[in-house]
Amino acid sequence: MKITTNIKELQQRTSEWIAQGKKIGFVPTMGFLHEGHEALLKKARLENDLVVLSIFVNPLQFGANEDLDSYPRDQKHDKEIAEKHGVDVIFLPDEQTMYPNPLSINLTVVRRTDVLCGRSRPGHFDGVATVLTKLFNIVRPSRVYFGLKDAQQIAVVDALLEDLNFPIELIAVPTVREEDGLAKSSRNVNLLDQERKEAPYVQQALQCGRQHVENGETNPEKVIEKVRQFLEKKTHGKIDYIELLSYPMLQRVETIDQQVILATAVYFQNARLIDNVIFNEYGIKTLG
Ligand code: PAJ
Repeated sequence: MKITTNIKELQQRTSEWIAQGKKIGFVPTMGFLHEGHEALLKKARLENDLVVLSIFVNPLQFGANEDLDSYPRDQKHDKEIAEKHGVDVIFLPDEQTMYPNPLSINLTVVRRTDVLCGRSRPGHFDGVATVLTKLFNIVRPSRVYFGLKDAQQIAVVDALLEDLNFPIELIAVPTVREEDGLAKSSRNVNLLDQERKEAPYVQQALQCGRQHVENGETNPEKVIEKVRQFLEKKTHGKIDYIELLSYPMLQRVETIDQQVILATAVYFQNARLIDNVIFNEYGIKTLG
């Protein structure tokens, strides 16, 4: 396994692979790898000749009051995980390498972002789209792997690939969970003991909403209300949003008559948890 911090060196290497007709699978991350990331690496390993993992905590996608400085890091452990999954190259740039000068070009994501996390985190997906555009140009993968835990991010990447004509296939990987149903996340370590006990209710609340649709409910507002009641009863977290939207277009629906995402974000003291469930008009889970 090769570890590089150098853009030119990696570009040189990936150009050679592409000239040899090799397929590159790419897994972009911010590190502190857990089983969620591992699921992406496993799938990338199975489906490609070469696997590139990037680890970069991208300042551009963090808001002023967000957790950039406290974002957990553990390079030694990350390298072990990468090794275990047969990663060929880890790209490990620092901020100076990725952003040596102030950017002259700003990417702005104008659709699919005025909802869910995009609304609570203004500029977040612009930062994600910008760093991914750079990473895609550096790695030049055939396939990129993203987790459905961040379903809005997948919807944005889908638009990015389409609108900017990247010849890359997007692979969406189901959310990996703890045994009690909590979605694995690098931020879970920031939960206090009592909060960790309450955290599985986030997914349970969404399932309760989905069940309501399976039982015949077609009104989004009523489903959202069910989720709200469940969360308020079972957790001390502060609800950021609960939304039900078409997926992947992320538009509001009057009635549930197509594939939709039911998603929530809940603030605990030191961690904001997000989760979602994607299902069809019959309440049957379709993705994730
Ligand atoms: P990060 O939060 O490190 O996540 C990297 C990838 O792992 C994302 O595609 C995310 O959806 C996936 N992932 C995280 N938890 C998961 C889980 N429990 N199950 C399945 N997949 C999971 O997302 C980012 O980094 C950044 O925004 C990035 C795309 C790297 C751009 O900076």
